[in-house]
Amino acid sequence: MMKEEIRGNVLNPLPVALVGALVDGKPNYLVIGYISPFNFGKHIFFSLYKKRYTRIGIHENMTFSVNIPSESLLEETKVCGSKSGRNYDKSSIFDTFFGELKTAPMIRECPLNMECEVTEILDYDPNEGIIGRVVKSYVDSDVLVDSKLDMRKVHPLIWTIGGDFNYYQLGNRIDG
Ligand SMILES: Cc1cc2nc3c(=O)[nH]c(=O)nc-3n(C[C@H](O)[C@H](O)[C@H](O)COP(=O)(O)O)c2cc1C
Repeated sequence: MMKEEIRGNVLNPLPVALVGALVDGKPNYLVIGYISPFNFGKHIFFSLYKKRYTRIGIHENMTFSVNIPSESLLEETKVCGSKSGRNYDKSSIFDTFFGELKTAPMIRECPLNMECEVTEILDYDPNEGIIGRVVKSYVDSDVLVDSKLDMRKVHPLIWTIGGDFNYYQLGNRIDG
């Protein structure tokens, strides 16, 4: 096969995550696509534009949540990824719950949730790299099989960068 050069980053696919923070006491959620486990999963890393409304709450409380939506939440996810809390109230799109950190709002409808505390903020103007320690993780009981996470039951939304920028479904498990 011939190789062709393509512009951009092709580390694909990536999970679609809804990151949450309390801004002025209200939950606000945005879509974060540039997100990754870090420090072998003990931490999370993501890129956040400084103009995002959610950033205000992350800086104020130094906490955030990461929520993995199912395909059934595609429409709600699109709203969180296109409307800003600055001029659109996203606090009642989902049912919010809290865990150990009282300032990291999590989405009950999402089957996977994590609450995180910020450990470092990297300035990459006009955005920031946010690093957070995973304080606690939660899953819906119906995505567990023999107490282990079965991603086929989560039906996560996944997306792609490097020119594609579309949403996809997870495929089948092929080994084990
Ligand atoms: C698929 C997708 C991925 C996105 N990834 C990021 C991201 O990694 N970082 C970021 O700052 N914004 C990202 N956004 C944009 C924000 O989700 C969007 O601007 C949102 O409306 C900001 O909300 P807020 O102002 O209430 O925080 C993404 C949007 C979509 C649809």
